[in-house]
Amino acid sequence: MDKKRDEGKEPTEKEEKERRPSAMLIEEGGVQFNSEVQRMQQLVSNETSGGWESCWEQGLTPWDLGHPTPIILHLHQTGALPKGRALVPGCGSGYDVVAMACSERYVVGLDFSPTAIEKAVELSSSSPNSSCFTFLKEDFFTWQPPELFDLIFDYTFFCAVEPEMRSRWACRVQEMLKPDGELISDHAGGPPYKVSVSDYEEVLHPMGFKAVTIVDNELAIGDRKGREKFGRWKRCTDESKHS
Ligand SMILES: C[S@@+](CC[C@H](N)C(=O)[O-])C[C@H]1O[C@@H](n2cnc3c(N)ncnc32)[C@H](O)[C@@H]1O
Repeated sequence: MDKKRDEGKEPTEKEEKERRPSAMLIEEGGVQFNSEVQRMQQLVSNETSGGWESCWEQGLTPWDLGHPTPIILHLHQTGALPKGRALVPGCGSGYDVVAMACSERYVVGLDFSPTAIEKAVELSSSSPNSSCFTFLKEDFFTWQPPELFDLIFDYTFFCAVEPEMRSRWACRVQEMLKPDGELISDHAGGPPYKVSVSDYEEVLHPMGFKAVTIVDNELAIGDRKGREKFGRWKRCTDESKHS
């Protein structure tokens, strides 16, 4: 990921707080310090795009649930997800990609870490729905999709994007979604970068997106419970602007 920092410019208090590992913020709240998360944060913030690959190579993947995100499985099983084409940026091991792929929904899992993509391909090699998804080793910020998407599912990807790249993230979401496409976001805590719902709003509102739903994710797991917000975002049409 490109680092575009203003060298020599003193960070504001907000910027300084955002750049700190979210694990440290959790510790300040009284929760036990997680050294694996801290090591991961150091790798990601000290190296450029290679930091993520180093995490994957070293098996430092504390975000990895080892199974699909329960909320996406629930939405898929209850028919509450858009059909058509879906994108999972920063898909990691790819559990969510496989979980929501079906004959009515083709899912593209994207990650710029070669090791992550290798793992995703290997884990999914015997999936019965393998014709309904693909994994691509690409950078979300530069990849040009051949077709637009009906759904982008962002789970622990926005919080992986450096704060100075968040506006660019929102531009890419807008560019890759069909005009009536939907963004589903499901995380508001980090690591590595702490994010809140207002951080999403700050970059999505200028792109014309508004939240259709933002609720606590009741299906969040373990210490993520109470920290995760589940959001569904759509681009405002002329009619919705007046509603
Ligand atoms: C915190 S992990 C989340 C992985 C997965 N979504 C999960 O919940 O298990 C963030 C992932 O985003 C990937 N990533 C970070 N920046 C990226 C970029 N610019 N393009 C594609 N993938 C990226 C990393 O390699 C990493 O696998």
